[in-house]
Amino acid sequence: ATTETRRADVTDDPGRRDFLLYGTGAVAVVGTGLALWPFIDSINPTADVLALSSTELDLTPVAVGQRVTVTWRGKPVFVSHRTEEEIQLAVAADDDPKLINPATDASRVQNADWLVVVGICKHLGCVPLGQKSSDSRGRYGGWFCPCHGSQYDTSGRVRHGPAPLNLALPPYTLKADETVVIG
Ligand code: FES
Repeated sequence: ATTETRRADVTDDPGRRDFLLYGTGAVAVVGTGLALWPFIDSINPTADVLALSSTELDLTPVAVGQRVTVTWRGKPVFVSHRTEEEIQLAVAADDDPKLINPATDASRVQNADWLVVVGICKHLGCVPLGQKSSDSRGRYGGWFCPCHGSQYDTSGRVRHGPAPLNLALPPYTLKADETVVIG
């Protein structure tokens, strides 16, 4: 009899019933919000996230013949201050249609002095290593992939597989010869 009386007290009192209903709902809403917060926070394009979408590099200290690697969206990007010889080689290779890379071709890019390519091998995604010079043993003076031996020349064109494609190009803008904005 005591239990039935208590149950009747709870369900028959409209004020108490509403309190329990709203209270339970509020706890559920707060709990769901807390559980989802990491997800909501991760898709929120805050200023920090937007800032990560582009990378700016000061080019003034990068001498002719020098290369630097910067990180853009977690990927390495090779920025090369090409020598006159490298620029000439990039144009000359146009004779072979396989070697045309319109975006890095010295005769077509915005500023032939600079090469900007994503430093990820187009075979299986390793990071190629820079080579100092070309030689008769099949090196092209650009980049060499240590994973399976692909060779890229100084314009980022693949000259020896297994990589099937030239190094990719990120979107970038050169501001005079002073700054490159990648992304
Ligand atoms: Fe570069 Fe295979 S990942 S050659």
